[in-house]
Amino acid sequence: MIKLSRKIASIAPSMTLAISAKANELKAAGEKVINFGVGEPDFNTPAHIVEAAKEALDKGYTKYVAAAGLPALKKAVCQKFERENGLTYKPSQIIISNGAKHSIFNAVFALIEDGDEVIIPSPYWLTYPEVVKSCGGVPVFVETTRQSGYKMTAAQLEKAITQKTKMLIFNTPSNPTGAVYTEEEIRALAAVCLKHNICVLSDEIYERLIYGGEKHFSIAAVSPEMKELTIVINGVSKSYAMTGWRLGYLACAEPIAKAIASFQSHTTSNVNTMTQYAAIAALEGDDKPVSDMVKAFGERRDMAINILESYKKYDLSYVKPDGAFYIMLHVDGLYGKKFKGEVLKDSLQVADLLLTHKKVAVTPGVCFGDDTSVRLSYALSPADLKEGLEKIAEFAQECR
Ligand SMILES: Cc1ncc(COP(=O)(O)O)c(C=O)c1O
Repeated sequence: MIKLSRKIASIAPSMTLAISAKANELKAAGEKVINFGVGEPDFNTPAHIVEAAKEALDKGYTKYVAAAGLPALKKAVCQKFERENGLTYKPSQIIISNGAKHSIFNAVFALIEDGDEVIIPSPYWLTYPEVVKSCGGVPVFVETTRQSGYKMTAAQLEKAITQKTKMLIFNTPSNPTGAVYTEEEIRALAAVCLKHNICVLSDEIYERLIYGGEKHFSIAAVSPEMKELTIVINGVSKSYAMTGWRLGYLACAEPIAKAIASFQSHTTSNVNTMTQYAAIAALEGDDKPVSDMVKAFGERRDMAINILESYKKYDLSYVKPDGAFYIMLHVDGLYGKKFKGEVLKDSLQVADLLLTHKKVAVTPGVCFGDDTSVRLSYALSPADLKEGLEKIAEFAQECR
């Protein structure tokens, strides 16, 4: 048997696999499963974006282009940063990659040496620690609390910094908590990063999905010094309902972008050419489909929290999310109780029982470093959302 490399052997298998395999089995057997596990908008890609890709194919734009991205797309990305984030970048500071996930990998690979510590506020998106480990880094988790709305404070950040700290991975709006940091909170975190010269990988993929008045603020916009220290990650997957197209991008200081461009030229080369044309249409075209989608998600969030508010009596609680399309539902109030004779003790077990007995799929919080909760995505129809939440209530009522 050939031995796996140490780096790849450090990657944890996905804990959600067992749940999704079981959900698929149930569906194949003809059962209706309400799926709160989805991580993508249930809307179609807006028509004008699809048309742009078709047009690119018809025009024969099917060949290799520059590995780091089409100049016209990089220009559109620069204009987006200027318009929406007040950030001025040159096209040479932009790298177009195969999804934000790929951009994150490239950035971590470019900056992290063996043994470097990377601070990750917890609960976290499950890919972050695996990417850090695969690049030889050491994830250092900072536990946030329900009381702080799942937001890391500047004092917590400062306490976690050691001689080995190189990077903070920062995600607002957050998957899985839906937390949205305010400009003031971001400025306080930036002051700590500047003081200790810590670079920030700022994952802003959910920036458009904010409800209830809060405005997205990029940590790179704090000051020119902070911009130098930040790698901004974004993409079209979530904002434009384009998860399957695979296009993300990053913006950073020129020497880092240059290094990533060389690396990408030897690994994946360019993102497929017609997707890049579609992304130009997304960034430059009619924004109404996006604002309509955001409005619909906002209504579903309100509907979900209104229903969940009445579930406190069943020992279920939550923190109101301001962005993305997720809610962490606290199920630890049920721990110690019995469901069909089984004593409840963790989020994986709750997820498994909900699926088996109520045909409701949720993501166990343990995947995100929080075993007290399960993550519900509200990227599903209002009717399914209501029915699924009712089934969760039934489950909680049957726990004694
Ligand atoms: C926080 C976060 N960042 C990045 C991504 C990856 O986005 P993409 O599909 O563009 O790779 C996701 C997808 O779930 C995410 O939740």
